Amino acid sequence: MDKKRVAIIGVTGSVGQEFVHSLHNHPWFEVTQIAASERSAGKKYLDAIRDSDGIVAWDVGGEIPEYIKDMPVLKVDELDTSQLDLVFSAVESEAARDIETKMAADVPVISTSSAYRYEDDVPILIPGINDEQAELLDVQKKNRNWKGWVAPLPNCTTTGLAITLKPLLEKYGAKKVLMTSMQAISGGGRSGVSAMGIMDNIIPYIPKEEEKVRIETRKILGKLKDGKIEDADIKVSCTCTRVPVIDGHTESVFVETEKRIDPIAAKKTYEEYNKSISVVGLPSAPKDYYVFHEDPTRPQPRMEREVGGGMTTTIGRVEKEELFENGLKYMLFSHNKKMGSAKGAVLLAEMLYKKGKI
Ligand SMILES: NC(=O)c1ccc[n+]([C@@H]2O[C@H](COP(=O)([O-])OP(=O)(O)OC[C@H]3O[C@@H](n4cnc5c(N)ncnc54)[C@H](OP(=O)(O)O)[C@@H]3O)[C@@H](O)[C@H]2O)c1
Repeated sequence: MDKKRVAIIGVTGSVGQEFVHSLHNHPWFEVTQIAASERSAGKKYLDAIRDSDGIVAWDVGGEIPEYIKDMPVLKVDELDTSQLDLVFSAVESEAARDIETKMAADVPVISTSSAYRYEDDVPILIPGINDEQAELLDVQKKNRNWKGWVAPLPNCTTTGLAITLKPLLEKYGAKKVLMTSMQAISGGGRSGVSAMGIMDNIIPYIPKEEEKVRIETRKILGKLKDGKIEDADIKVSCTCTRVPVIDGHTESVFVETEKRIDPIAAKKTYEEYNKSISVVGLPSAPKDYYVFHEDPTRPQPRMEREVGGGMTTTIGRVEKEELFENGLKYMLFSHNKKMGSAKGAVLLAEMLYKKGKI
């Protein structure tokens, strides 16, 4: 089969580097063009990721794939969309708005930025959770008279929350959710959090994060009706914090349900969902979408982040919550740069390719 030709925009950043890794030897997609800001444009990739002291700053770990080392980093304007089947966009949201608008006029765009997430004709997709909302991409394409579309992923903190709530919502009717996040440093990007600021510290505020989690969770868990998404009727409140962990977000969740639930029933629900999850068999899908621990010392970022290649969501500390008539409390772990961004975006591309949208 001819592989689909893809570009990565924001290829030098934290998420961009993960894209390089996730697309290495991919069976369906081949990276043929890469772009970043003017700072990097005109350099070979390996030189573009050197810091101001000339040190190669590769955040992913392991070797940098050979295919990318000498590839020239382009300006966004230099990308040739006539030679592309798909664009992965990993730039901050202000720059992303113009870039993604320009790209989507010609070619489908899968984005990790928030630039388009809150538009009525734009679904926020998590493969395996709300695949049916992908039908909105056809509406979007028509509305905007584009050849492509923009399909954003959620904020990486929303991802684990929405993934763990979905089975509970379907089976037990989630009504209210309280969440406190302990988010990794890498979630802030390459220049996001200074080492001096985060070591021996917890930052109790992440600008705009809590609003994003509230809005996105309701939209993702909503229903597509007559070409529009009806938000799920769940009240979400959260506190988002930054902690000195390199990769992977941990979240403490309290959920009030309509029906009676207990940890055994929850475990069974996640196990059943694992068997029927739509992404089974896709190249970037993990063996287990959910892992449920009864050991109260899990989840821990160091132990969970490699599970399922960073694509598994881990749930632990599950207890009946006595504050509510019906409800649970639990902790989750979700990898912000794998399932929560680059590799999750590749999984989304695989799902949309299977649906014939790419
Ligand atoms: N980090 C995470 O865990 C995570 C998770 C989910 C979603 N996201 C979202 O993903 C996006 C990227 O995040 P990140 O953490 O990878 O940020 P980052 O490390 O700061 O990287 C930003 C990338 O965008 C490029 N860039 C900046 N301005 C540009 C412009 N005007 N034109 C073209 N390229 C431009 C940068 O290129 P230069 O190197 O040349 O400056 C760099 O490659 C953001 O929207 C973020 O909110 C991040």
